[in-house]
Amino acid sequence: MLKQRKDFLGLYDVPGEDIMEILQTARSMKDIFTRSIKKVPTLRGKTVVNLFFEPSTRTKSSFDLAAKRLSADVMSISKSSSSVVKGETLLDTARTMEVMGADIVVVRHSHPGAARYLAKNLKAAVLNAGDGAHAHPTQGLLDIYTIWEKLGELQDKKILIVGDIAHSRVARSNIWGLLNLGAEVRVCGPSTLLPRQLEETGVKTYTKIDEALDDVDAVNILRIQLERQESGLFPSLREYRFLFGINEARQSRLKDEALVMHPGPMNRGVEIESSVADGKRAVITEQVTNGVAIRMALLYLLAGKEVQYENLA
Ligand code: CP
Repeated sequence: MLKQRKDFLGLYDVPGEDIMEILQTARSMKDIFTRSIKKVPTLRGKTVVNLFFEPSTRTKSSFDLAAKRLSADVMSISKSSSSVVKGETLLDTARTMEVMGADIVVVRHSHPGAARYLAKNLKAAVLNAGDGAHAHPTQGLLDIYTIWEKLGELQDKKILIVGDIAHSRVARSNIWGLLNLGAEVRVCGPSTLLPRQLEETGVKTYTKIDEALDDVDAVNILRIQLERQESGLFPSLREYRFLFGINEARQSRLKDEALVMHPGPMNRGVEIESSVADGKRAVITEQVTNGVAIRMALLYLLAGKEVQYENLA
């Protein structure tokens, strides 16, 4: 079913069975990581362009690596070193890449809807690598993959997302993906940062962290995105840490097998203490590794339509 899509923009309209197809494809991709030569010819002759108009460490480098491991040609453009600083538009930049032969355009942009806008105006497949506070579907998928790999099926798993839910594209993508897989989704944070409409979708909202942590299978801890907030929504980082930060005492409320997750970048000592981030429940580094596998899976599913699975061998 995934192969019928030109673009991949969000998880809102991706049914559970299609999410599972991506996770299973990512698992096949992850097998490649253990080989001495971590490269397959699957996307040889295809061209992937990474257009990053916002900073990124994990997403940009893992799309780069994913494309290279599949043997695609890769071009990377960042806002500060491109002709965007001379006034060129996003669409003109993307079209310039398209006429050079781009098959897939991966885009990160501060405007919600930027990826959809490109998808409507390009023949190339468009993959959303984060658009404003709207969606970050590959992050949602790699988080879900990590839970699935560690704990099995998502159906009825209790997953808590803590932090600035209102401004988080990571939260939104996790929520849609998890709901489509039948998980119970909880969110917790200051009431000013919890969108009211969330309860209508079946998400449980909490403003007290100790209640929210009760009986969860995984807690995904978000960074406070001060760069996306209007003033007045958030008292201080010190108060946030006191009320919502995940420290050892709060971690000890979790059941034995529960996972501690963070999409990164972390602000140690604010939303998560270092001893928790580096502790035995944390799967934060595994999330990063899984991000490469998920991005390989999506590039393959979008660009490798005529390529068969056997080519992964
Ligand atoms: N999680 C995430 O999107 O990280 P980067 O901003 O470093 O890509």
